[in-house]
Amino acid sequence: MSAAVTSPIAATSFAQQRRGCRAGSAVRCSAAAPTSAAAPILADLRLQCAAPLPVLRRVADAMAADMRAGLAADGAGELKMIPSHVYSLPTGNETGLFYALDLGGTNFRVLRVQLGGKDKRVVDTEFEQVSIPKEIMRGTTEELFDFIAMGLSRFVATESDKFHLPQGRKREIGFTFSFPVKQTSIDSGILIKWTKGFAVSGTAGKDVVACLNAAMERQGLDMRVSALVNDTVGTLAGAHYWDDDTMVAVILGTGTNACYIEQTETIPKLQHLVLGTRNTIINTEWGAFSDGLPLTEFDREMDGESINPGEQIFEKTISGMYLGEIVRRVLVKMAQVSDLFGHSFPKKLAEPFVLRTPHLCAMQQDNSDNLGEVESILNDIIGASQASLEARKTVIQVSDSIIRRGGRLAGAGIAGILEKMENESKGQIFGRRTVVAMDGGLYENYPQYREYMKEAVVELLGPEQSKHIAIEHTKDGSGIGAALLAAANSKYAAQF
Ligand code: BGC
Repeated sequence: MSAAVTSPIAATSFAQQRRGCRAGSAVRCSAAAPTSAAAPILADLRLQCAAPLPVLRRVADAMAADMRAGLAADGAGELKMIPSHVYSLPTGNETGLFYALDLGGTNFRVLRVQLGGKDKRVVDTEFEQVSIPKEIMRGTTEELFDFIAMGLSRFVATESDKFHLPQGRKREIGFTFSFPVKQTSIDSGILIKWTKGFAVSGTAGKDVVACLNAAMERQGLDMRVSALVNDTVGTLAGAHYWDDDTMVAVILGTGTNACYIEQTETIPKLQHLVLGTRNTIINTEWGAFSDGLPLTEFDREMDGESINPGEQIFEKTISGMYLGEIVRRVLVKMAQVSDLFGHSFPKKLAEPFVLRTPHLCAMQQDNSDNLGEVESILNDIIGASQASLEARKTVIQVSDSIIRRGGRLAGAGIAGILEKMENESKGQIFGRRTVVAMDGGLYENYPQYREYMKEAVVELLGPEQSKHIAIEHTKDGSGIGAALLAAANSKYAAQF
């Protein structure tokens, strides 16, 4: 059993870095230089984060090459390329009541859906969201799964007669578990490692469905997990249910990942299963990618102080959990060498992860001349009460550099996947309409990030090929998708 990690981020080494100023206190900094002294840091940052087309091309090609390596053998590439064991996507014929449980971030969601078959499709749906306390995210496996099973049990107890479970059937559940899992079958899988700030002890190496079953038993809850899916896989299944041109799903939220439809005969590591010619879904776990990424000193420092140094580098460069923190680190350096925020160093700026991606987003939406919203966010969040207009503009430029790099690299990843699919089977992607289903708060809420991402896809694919690609938001598709996959893999499927 590995010991619980009590803090996701090691304490900042700010105290040692702050030359001539007392760390964490709003003292006057004797060495303060004018705001313009921050300009070279901004110029360097912009250069390093520019991600021009040749860099994107290298990333897209390296991503495609790594995908092939990961399909050939486990551990051969950075991308795990995990077979989902989904061989049949929902057809629309599914009927009945199904549940989904979605664990992947600071909240978990429970959902029930009444499916009405080809004509009625989704008849009714209800969900509830429960936030996971920090101590549970860093507690023991039993604590986490008991907490989840309790939430699920409370939710099941509120099932009204809008929902119907046919006599003699057990309630079935699709379990969306959004962490890297070595899937052993459609309804079992072993956690490889936690990501996104989770540090629950004793789960890595265990079957997460067995953990959930044991917790449900402790709660006296008699349900059957009929599908274990990654959130990308759930999103793909959910989007495919409505639009069968959907071939790829991407999550850009707290964490990031992508999955896509692959033909079994092009997966060397599955050949022993003698699956014949079928389609399946591959969970790439692209967050682990790192080859050729344009990284800065700020990325390296953040990674070094994280709970998983050297891991999830793509995720740390492009996903919502980290973008605010990278910007904070740039601002710390700027405030150390200049009076960007006045003569004293804003105390709260020293706190890791205090500046979050939604703050960057809110600041970037401020179109006013005096950047009033930026001023109040800087005041409220990092305690910078004296940020001049010049300083506010600098903060926006720093945010934009990091957001732009993130969006462009995400776009390169998408282009890499599409090109790999097309290469394997000409015309499969660019000879027809192809939908990339997108979900996650970063994609949904950050318009600039979204635009940078789409621009990069078009730059890489060119106008002709990108004409065939529809990048579409599938809101909360992973929950419904998991319920649909539970239905598609139901032990009562023959009765539909
Ligand atoms: C996890 C993936 C997940 C992604 C998006 C990553 O940290 O490793 O399994 O799909 O986050 O939630």
